[in-house]
Amino acid sequence: MLDHVLHGYVNAMECEHGQISRRLHSLGQSLDTIGVHGQSKTEVQSVVMQLEELEHFLANHFKREEDGGFLDDAVSAAPRFGLDAKTLLGEHGTLLTRVKELTNVARSKGNCREEWPSIAAATRTLIRQLKAHEERENELLRRAFNVANGN
Ligand SMILES: [Fe+2]
Ligand SMILES: [Fe+2]
Repeated sequence: MLDHVLHGYVNAMECEHGQISRRLHSLGQSLDTIGVHGQSKTEVQSVVMQLEELEHFLANHFKREEDGGFLDDAVSAAPRFGLDAKTLLGEHGTLLTRVKELTNVARSKGNCREEWPSIAAATRTLIRQLKAHEERENELLRRAFNVANGN
């Protein structure tokens, strides 16, 4: 029963994380395109829109994880991962604030040629941080799933 439930969590979480990963990939591609020839108004708008959507998606995703979600169940199955889960959940506030700040900066200063390189660099850093965060959660779930199965 437990492994069945956990397996469902692993799948659900990997599905959500897959959506985040695709959003981050697409955002990175938009930055690459702009990097080749400088930003146009439409391209900046596209980046701002992707950041807004990412913020909205992440706010809901983080809330699901915090409200007795996947990680709690993983820790119930394998208490040794309690500290790791707590650390991961503790990162949500900072990550979401960073996405919000970056969205605001991109919206207000994205059309300024001088500002763009630092906005793009900060966005790439955030993409890396978000990918690392989600990958650590995937890894924790996989390991908890293995422990629950006696592996
Ligand atoms: Fe998370
Ligand atoms: Fe997550």
